[in-house]
Amino acid sequence: MKITFEGATVVVTGAARGIGRGIVEAFASCGARVVATDVLAEALSEIKAGAPPGRVETRVVDVTDAVTGQVLPVTGSPIA
Ligand SMILES: NC(=O)c1ccc[n+]([C@@H]2O[C@H](COP(=O)([O-])OP(=O)(O)OC[C@H]3O[C@@H](n4cnc5c(N)ncnc54)[C@H](O)[C@@H]3O)[C@@H](O)[C@H]2O)c1
Repeated sequence: MKITFEGATVVVTGAARGIGRGIVEAFASCGARVVATDVLAEALSEIKAGAPPGRVETRVVDVTDAVTGQVLPVTGSPIA
């Protein structure tokens, strides 16, 4: 059975490496639009560059920063 997340937007924290990066790739390959967040800007850029066009958006976010956390994009707005 093929699992699809077409039409879903998924926000992943700790997305630049390891388990988080794997989660980004898994959701993107199942059709989701992914907002990948991490403190590692360069690694996030590499992930976006390697993803299908328009599939992955990135945000530099420190999840321990309460101010930044409040502006983490969790709506389903289109990915630029
Ligand atoms: N790898 C394993 O086998 C395993 C097993 C059990 C539990 N875990 C736990 O799962 C989590 C992820 O493991 P991993 O191996 O993918 O780790 P990792 O170090 O490879 O990746 C963690 C990611 O989180 C990011 N990050 C760290 N602090 C951050 C912050 N304040 N804000 C935003 N991003 C931040 C890092 O930049 C990195 O990209 C860890 O808590 C780990 O202890 C891992």
